[in-house]
Amino acid sequence: MGKILFVSHDGDTHETELVAGRSLMQHATGHGVPGIDGDCGGVCACGTCHVILDSRWLDRVGASGPEEDQMLGMTPERQPTSRLACQITVSADMDGMTVRLPEFQM
Ligand code: FES
Repeated sequence: MGKILFVSHDGDTHETELVAGRSLMQHATGHGVPGIDGDCGGVCACGTCHVILDSRWLDRVGASGPEEDQMLGMTPERQPTSRLACQITVSADMDGMTVRLPEFQM
């Protein structure tokens, strides 16, 4: 088992046990990570699962698709390494990944 670390905008950390197979949004909400809402249930329609990845992890996880990119375009705190957590599937090779959270979700 590995770990995924979530870091809030003000530096609070929340370490989670990596469980492969679910979306990163489901993973976070299932672990009670504050700051990820997932209002649409994971269908890329709300933007409330915005996360910011380290660039080396973005290279591994991959860039956003067109639909996700459009949704991210409405996110005020968008960064070059922003993704929507519902569009990322947690895998075993994400052990050690750090995920930063914006101050606000849409
Ligand atoms: Fe709605 Fe990700 S949960 S866009």
